[in-house]
Amino acid sequence: MPHELAPLPYAANALEPFIDTQTMEIHHGKHHATYVANLNKAVACTEVLQTKPLDDLIRDLASAPEAVRGAIRNNGGGHWNHSFFWKLMAPPSGTGPSGALLAALNAAFGNLASFQERFETAGMGRFGSGWAWLTVTQGKLEIVSTANQDNPLMGKAIAGCDGVPILGVDVWEHAYYLKYQNRRADYLKAWWNVVNWNAVARHYEAATR
Ligand SMILES: [Fe+2]
Repeated sequence: MPHELAPLPYAANALEPFIDTQTMEIHHGKHHATYVANLNKAVACTEVLQTKPLDDLIRDLASAPEAVRGAIRNNGGGHWNHSFFWKLMAPPSGTGPSGALLAALNAAFGNLASFQERFETAGMGRFGSGWAWLTVTQGKLEIVSTANQDNPLMGKAIAGCDGVPILGVDVWEHAYYLKYQNRRADYLKAWWNVVNWNAVARHYEAATR
């Protein structure tokens, strides 16, 4: 199978009490695993698709055969988004962004608190299922959101936005419902405690290089 589910980069209970163990187990072991299995089914039709890296699959959806384009959009997006998401989190460390990333956040949004508020608003404003993202477009930071498993890398015509994601939060109910029920706002506020700012800084550096 060309696509595989990597293990979580930490124990399933590592993000407690902000993200509970059972949510992590089901989210990774069931939801993400299903995206991977269905992506493998979707790309099984041609050798070209089978050998195409995940990044290229989602950046170049337009060239996928129409019969499997929707399946690649949903499941390739799901695989990319979740693989990115796990690495964006880490056990609570109490540290925030620093250096060039903090300077860029301050320049774009005024200060860290104002950035966080606007990011949470993007997550709250996404009706139904989807993601909120912090992206870099030609060196500029932007907050956007996408529906379902769409990703800014899919481009404006498909995802409604573009740019290179450097941070993203899953606002599907499966990401928070067991612990927070319908309180998406509480989940989004708690989520900052487990953001891996070192990973975000690496993404920012790569996107602005
Ligand atoms: Fe998810």
